[in-house]
Formats: sequence, C-alpha cells, structure tokens
Amino acid sequence: MPERYDLVLRGGTVIDGSGGPGARADVAVRGDRVARVGAVDADAAAAEVIDVSGHVVCPGFIDVHAHDDTLVLIEPDNEGKVMQGVTTVINGNCGAGVVPQSASRRVLESEAPLPEWDSYGGYLDAIARQPPSLNVATLVGFGTMRAGALSGAQVTRPATAEEIERMRAWLREALTAGALGMSTGLIYEPDRYATTDEIVAVAQPLAAGGGLYASHVRGEGETLLAAHAEAMEIGRRGGVPVQISHHKASGRAYWGYVRRSLAQIEEARVRGEDVTADQYPYTAGSTRLAAMIQNGWFGDGADGAREMEVLLASVPSRPAWEGRSVASLASELDLPIEQAAQRIVDEGGASTIAIMFSMDEADVRTVMRHESTMIGTDGIGWGSRPHPRHFGTYPRILGRYVREHGVIALEEAVHRMTAMPAQKFDLRGRGELREGSIADLVVFDPRTVIDVATYEDPRRPPAGMPYVFVNGSAVVRDGVHTHARAGRAVRRGVDR
Ligand code: ZN
Ligand code: CU
Repeated sequence: MPERYDLVLRGGTVIDGSGGPGARADVAVRGDRVARVGAVDADAAAAEVIDVSGHVVCPGFIDVHAHDDTLVLIEPDNEGKVMQGVTTVINGNCGAGVVPQSASRRVLESEAPLPEWDSYGGYLDAIARQPPSLNVATLVGFGTMRAGALSGAQVTRPATAEEIERMRAWLREALTAGALGMSTGLIYEPDRYATTDEIVAVAQPLAAGGGLYASHVRGEGETLLAAHAEAMEIGRRGGVPVQISHHKASGRAYWGYVRRSLAQIEEARVRGEDVTADQYPYTAGSTRLAAMIQNGWFGDGADGAREMEVLLASVPSRPAWEGRSVASLASELDLPIEQAAQRIVDEGGASTIAIMFSMDEADVRTVMRHESTMIGTDGIGWGSRPHPRHFGTYPRILGRYVREHGVIALEEAVHRMTAMPAQKFDLRGRGELREGSIADLVVFDPRTVIDVATYEDPRRPPAGMPYVFVNGSAVVRDGVHTHARAGRAVRRGVDR
C-alpha cells in the first residue's frame, strides 16, 4: 500500500536545526506535520511534489525579537517576515506589549481598526480568529503594564504595592494563556523609572508560570556591563532564564565592549545561569526618535554619537521626511541638531522612528560567533523607509555572514534561528525538522540566498528562498507570497 502525503520535498539537503550536519533526504508532510524524513518511495501518492535538489530544507525561522503585535492584525501577510523565512514571530519585546490595550504603545498611530481584548488570552484568541500568514507568540510587555497600572499618576515614581499587584495579575493571566515570559525596555517610558526591586517584584509569577525574562537593558554604551548585570540579577532573584535583547555596544566610544559583555555572559553560564541573547546582523539600530532624544543621543555629552548618521524611517505626520537624515533637516530648519530632532518629533508624531548607525561591524561579528547568540530581527515594519532588518535579517546571515564571510557555519546559523530559540522560549513541536514535528519549513539555495533590502530601498524581498511553509501550508511558493493565512496563536509549552 503506497503512502499518501500532502507534500513531498524531493532531493534537498535537510539541516534539522540541531546544529548537526546536513544530509540528503526527502521530506514528506501530511496535514500540519512532517510525516517522513528520508527516502520517499517513488510510488508514494502526494498532492504536491517539489524538486528541491540543490536546496537546503530546514525548520522555519523563529524571530525571537519581534514588534509585530498589531502589524500581524493590520497587515496579516506580514510580507517582510514571511518572505525571509520567518514562520513564528515572538512579539511583545522591549517592554512594549498589548495589555492593557488602552496603554499599549502602538508603533504607529494607525487608523486601521483593531479587535478589542482585555487580556493576553483575548489577544491570542484574536490572533487565532484572524490568523496572519505566520505563527504568533508573545511576551508580556512590562512597560505597557506599568503605564496601565500607573495611569494618571506620575510615572517617574516607584510603583506602589497595589500597582505591583495589578501588574502581577496581568502577568499571571498572560502566563496561563500561554505567553512566553515578560520583557522590559529600560531606556523607554515608563519602564526606565522602575527600580531593579520593582521589576523583580512584578516578575515574581514568572518562575511558577515557566516564563523567561527578556530585556532591552538600561544602557548599551558606557553602562553596558552594569546593565547586563542588572538583567542577570533579575533572572537570579526571580529564578528565571534571561534573554538579553539585541546584544550590542552602541556608540563609537564603546566599540569593543562586547568582548567584555560576552565574557560576563560566559561567567554567568559557567555559574549555571541560563543567559542567552539575540542579535540582528546590521551596524545600524532603529527606535523612536523621542527615546533617542531622551537618552541624550543628540546632547553635548553624547560621546561621539552625534557624529553618527541618523535617518528617519517612519514619520506618521510628515511622511515626506522619511529617508531624510536628521542632520540635513537640521540645516534646512536652521536649528541645532537636538532642537531639530525635537521639532521632528513635535511635527512628525511621537511614534516617529529613526535609524542610527551606531555599531561596529567587528562587534556584530564577535557577537554572532558566540554560542549564546540567537537571531532576531527587532524589525519595525511601519513607514516607507523602515530598517531593512525587517526584510533581510535571516537571508543576510545565511548569505553575507555564512557564505561570503564564513563568520559561522551554516548548520550553526540554522540552529541559532530554529531549535535554540524554540528550546529557550519553550515552543514545542517547532524549531527542529524531524518526523512528527510541525511542518514549519524553509527551502533556500545556500549558493544564492541573500538579503536585497537596503536602507534606501528596504521593502525588497530576499533572493534564493523559494518556499516557506507554515503549519504545512505554502505561504511562499516559487518566491511569491501566496497570501495563505496559515499562522496560529502559539502558546508556551503546547505542541500545536
Ligand atoms: Zn529594544
Ligand atoms: Cu526591540
């Protein structure tokens, strides 16, 4: 009796996500699962057979650092992520979550209607009812909870015991609903006013609920080591794993500090602490221009940061400024740079997003080589000139850093994009390609895969990645988005 499958990928090289070497094997899918890895009989019946010889077949990429909380509802194709092989986004990073909804910091003041939710369970149900093209998991944003708990009060003061209890209640609900942990963004409003003790107190339900702590730490320049130490302290005191977000040293004066921060992570790991990090493979970062001003980016004591180029990615009320540099607008407005930046925020909108060239390429590679680093985009997909990381992170690692520069091996890179994040964030059934696992799959040509998105023209899909499957359905076929809404709400520890 011949086997029946829905899909057979014939003749590719399977890299299974474990970090082990790739091997020639067919991959057969039935429903949403991988049914066979190995030779598939020629007489097997299959609805679709694709010759993928010369290509790698690997698990779908897990974007551990996403900000697509509302994007997946407003633009369910999520073209930027899907076309680069991302099959699961982990949203809610940098302290910016979706509960309470009234306090959620929408990246763009979009007019698009959103469903309403009153809890993380409600948010995940909304995703399940209105699924996008990829899977969605979430972290609880501490900053959004803090804004909600202290709403109407002076956010610069510490939270009261009552406010802490409110935040804990939201967190407990979220963990029960399947959230993966809690994130902070300690350079942002109002997270930045929380003391270490306050964060530890709010994080208390994480240990029992099985969640982790992810942090955009308090400083990525002069205070990088102290900031990482704080994140690790919170992990130790809370008894939970730690994820350092977008590991980097920012600002020319601090280039090279990543050697020390990596040594610090190694020491913690030797002590038995579960500390890892994520990284996007670019020398420019991107965040709210208002937060940059507030953190002294353009100020006098900015240690060389001022001479670095800052470009405007998304300016909601002045879209014509998108793509311009803050310096060029400053001379046009005839204002000192800091005042010009403030004017841009005042006129362009509080959610104006900028791109700043603040990192050293050697640091990017040093962090990438380290075993504690997994891959995440930190993409912010709004505006006409968003950071290209939203479109090119994964193919850029595979093409530029693996093939062209040999910074890490191919199997290792795939591992950092798949099984390593699945294990850390407790995503079951995903991250490894084996019989029985969920059929989130990427097919790419290791000889040609590359990012094509640039700062000037970011919304360009990559080359060399012809197929992407989510839960067994093609979301990219022959290099074209199929518009299939194959994604699911993914809950911690649940194999579905
Ligand atoms: Zn961040
Ligand atoms: Cu982020």
